[in-house]
This record gives sequence, structure tokens and C-alpha cells, in this order.
Amino acid sequence: MSSAPSLPIYLFTFNCARLLITPAVLATHLFSALDPSSPPPEIIAIGLQEVAPISYSFLGGEYLAPYLDQWSSVPHLAAQYLHSSRPDFPSEYVELGRYTIGMTALFIFSRRGEQVRNLKFGSVGFGVMGMANKGAVAARFGYSTTEDGDGGDGSEDINVTIVATHLAAHEHCCEDRNRDWETLSRGVVFETSSTQTPPLGINITSSETTPLLPSENTTDSSSPELSGIYHPNTHLLVMGDLNYRTSHKSPTPEDFRTFPRSPDDFVEFFKRDQLTRERTAGNTLHGFTEAPITFPPTYKYPEDVLSLLEDPEAGINGNDKRQKSQDDVFDWSRNRWPSWCDRILWLSPPATEGAENAIKVHKYTSIPAIRFSDHKPVGLHISLPKLNTNIPRKVTTGEEATDKSDLRSNPPFPLDKDWKVKRYNAELKEWAIGYAILIATTTNGLTVVGCLILGATMLWWGVTGRV
Ligand SMILES: *[C@@H]1O[C@H](CO)[C@@H](O)[C@H](O)[C@H]1NC(C)=O
Ligand SMILES: *[C@@H]1O[C@H](CO)[C@@H](O)[C@H](O)[C@H]1NC(C)=O
Ligand SMILES: *[C@@H]1O[C@H](CO)[C@@H](O)[C@H](O)[C@H]1NC(C)=O
Repeated sequence: MSSAPSLPIYLFTFNCARLLITPAVLATHLFSALDPSSPPPEIIAIGLQEVAPISYSFLGGEYLAPYLDQWSSVPHLAAQYLHSSRPDFPSEYVELGRYTIGMTALFIFSRRGEQVRNLKFGSVGFGVMGMANKGAVAARFGYSTTEDGDGGDGSEDINVTIVATHLAAHEHCCEDRNRDWETLSRGVVFETSSTQTPPLGINITSSETTPLLPSENTTDSSSPELSGIYHPNTHLLVMGDLNYRTSHKSPTPEDFRTFPRSPDDFVEFFKRDQLTRERTAGNTLHGFTEAPITFPPTYKYPEDVLSLLEDPEAGINGNDKRQKSQDDVFDWSRNRWPSWCDRILWLSPPATEGAENAIKVHKYTSIPAIRFSDHKPVGLHISLPKLNTNIPRKVTTGEEATDKSDLRSNPPFPLDKDWKVKRYNAELKEWAIGYAILIATTTNGLTVVGCLILGATMLWWGVTGRV
């Protein structure tokens, strides 16, 4: 590492269309958004949307595990491919933790697990009735910049918070996406009990099978034990299918002819981006910065590309054979405006910090070669400096207490004090819906339903005596 400590991270976000992936295929493309001339990532964060079919996602546990397990091996495989041609690249990344809420998942991998400390997760659902068909998972950890990983009180750490999310869909639902961001900012809560220091290299898995206890619903949001995603001593990055579009209504058949067909078109087309408009107007992702977009829209590609994963034999070679020319970057689905749904942004350090220049974006791009989803994945290779947490926070007297522009100390929204009850209630609904869908969509399920109907009918005949 160079003299000024900084942390190279690689973030990868993908709406994987509820498919069981083939790790070998993903591994050949995982690092396509990595800058080969910049330091290899110490941390890899993979954020996934639509990670599995809705019933499996809602039921979690062993229903969901096969989908997550496929992803677990991807960074390691990808590193081995790269390491074979580039020996300075790490040959291994270990999974430090994974967490899911509904159909949204976040994995944290590290090159040196022992330098990551206090990894914890938070989450919130904001789909139908608070269920997590849409939602967010966030991870927070400290990365020790001292080689032996023993920085004592953690003051040598670079603290990082990474959010993986899936906001509301559809062209006309821009305000719903803004509202989802607010729910996310209020509802993702980290419990920062100082006594809780998990052992290094621990595997943290989803809590889906152990619901949060509603008895702890008297949460005081002003408690120093709790913190939201905005916090003075941490970097904050957000990735996901943010779903912001380039139009407020669906395209007509005539509109299809105006869809972008060349890189020059993209530049012009990007001026219609809802996220840039809403963010600069202060309606969403408050305080966030994004690297310039130089890649084509990441959505929506025709469904026929889904065929790749239906053929698990395809493997790496099969994938190459099936690859069409670059031209199908322009092969848009007709029923949606091509849009940059999939994005990665970071919270700018406070103006007083002078650290903005020290954040180094190495590469930010999409990965068009992955073609089995109607989305393209997006990767960001970035180096984060140590935040200066010693700047005076001016917490002297009441009113003019803190610098209002410093969103780390003045988050745009207060925490939702009912976050635990809401999640508990939503989990009960998720289980009910999950089982209902499972029963309705499996042959066995239909048999069960059939028997129940037959049984009820016979009972009714028996009771009413009409045989
Ligand atoms: C973490 O989980 C992965 C995959 O589930 C496993 O291979 C690894 O050994 C686990 N690490 C620890 C420290 O338990
Ligand atoms: C949980 O919240 C409800 C409503 O706010 C309240 O009536 C109930 O007493 C709370 N339960 C506990 C254990 O604090
Ligand atoms: C990182 O977080 C830990 C735990 O919250 C804190 O003790 C430490 O001071 C933080 N480090 C920096 C540089 O902000």
C-alpha cells in the first residue's frame, strides 16, 4: 500500500433476473469493470437484486441458500483467472459475510479478512406493505490500515458503509423511488453496542430465519447505540437497481425509433436521466456524487438473452460461442425506455474535509458481455482515503450546533423508531406469501390444495347431508 492509507474497493451491482447463475460464466466477467493499472481491491462488495424467485426469497433459509451459494464462489474463481495472467493480483478472496432481505442481497469479500473488523448488517423492506420484494441491505465495517490488523481503538480504521438496494420500478414512479430512498435512510439501522465485537473473519449470515423480536420496539432513535447509514466516521456508498428512468411514461411504438443507437446518442440521452435530475434537486440520494457515465443504458434488454442460464452446460466456452456482436448493445426491449437503472454513488466528504480529491475513481462502467438478464451489471473500482474525523463539529450551543451541510452529522432524515416492529410484521407477511406462492406453483402444492378442496367439499356434503 502507498504511504497515505487508502482502501481500494470493487463494487458490483446486478439485477440477476431471479436466475440461478453459473459461477464460471460470472467469474469470467466479474472484473471487467476493474482498472488493471490501479491497486487490486482489498474489499469486493456484490449487491444483487432479484437474487431468487420471490417465494424462495421470502422464505429464505434453505430455499434461498442455493442461489446465494452460487455467488459465494464467484470472486474467488474470478481472482484465480486473473491471477494466472497477472501474478500481482490476489489469488483469493474470502467471504466475510452475506445478508439478504427479500430479493436483495449483499456479499462482502476480502483479500485479508483479518484486517476487517466489526462487520455488521442492517436492512429495510419497502415493497408492498413493507415486504421486501423491494428493499435495501447495508454493511458497515472498519478496515485496519495497519498491517497487523491491530489498530487498538479502531482510530486507524477506514470505516465504510455499503448499501445494496432495489428501488421502485416503472417509468412513472419516480416519486416512489425518492420515497423509497427516504424509507431506506430512516429504516436501515445499525446497532452499535460497544460490547459486541464479533471475532475477525466471522461469517455473518441472514437473519431471515430468526425474526427480530417485537419486544424491543421501544427503540429511542436518539440513542447513541443506534446509527443510520449516514454517520460522521464512515464513508457511504450506495449501489443497486435504483430504477431511475429516462422518461416518466412508457414508450409508444413510435418512440422505439428514437431509442439511442450509438455512443453519441447516449450522451444526449443521458440528459433525460431522472436520478441526476432528482439528486441535484435534493429529492433523493442527498449529498451523493457519481462518476461520469460513459456506458450505455443498463436496461432493458430483450428477454431472449435469458437463454444462457437455462443451459447450465453452456459454461465459459458456451458463453463465448453464444456471444453476439457488440451491436446488441442497441438491441433494446421495446416496452421500456432504455435507462441507466443500475448505478453506484458515494457520499461526498464534507467540504471542510478536503478529502474529495483523495477519493480516487479508477473505473466506473457496465459489463455488457453478461447477457442473461434484462439488466447489465455495473462495477465501480474506487479508492477511499481515511476520513478526517477530528474536524471540529461545532457542537457548542443549541441552534447553530452543527454544520448543516455536513450530512454525516446531519442526516437528511431521522431514524424510524418503529423499524423493528415494522420489519417483524413484514416478515410474517413474507412467510405467508412465500408459502402461498410455493404451494400454488408446485405440483405437490397443487395436490395439497386439491386434497384440501376435496376434503372440505366432502365435509360440507357430510354436514349438510347432501350426498
Ligand atoms: C464462510 O463461508 C464460506 C462459504 O459459506 C466458507 O467457505 C468459509 O469457510 C466460511 N468462513 C468461516 C471463517 O467460517
Ligand atoms: C410495542 O409498541 C406498541 C405500540 O407502539 C406498544 O403498545 C407495546 O407496549 C410495545 N411493546 C413493548 C414490549 O414495548
Ligand atoms: C471507525 O469506527 C469505529 C467504530 O465505530 C470507531 O471507534 C473509530 O473511531 C472509527 N474510525 C475512524 C477513523 O473514524
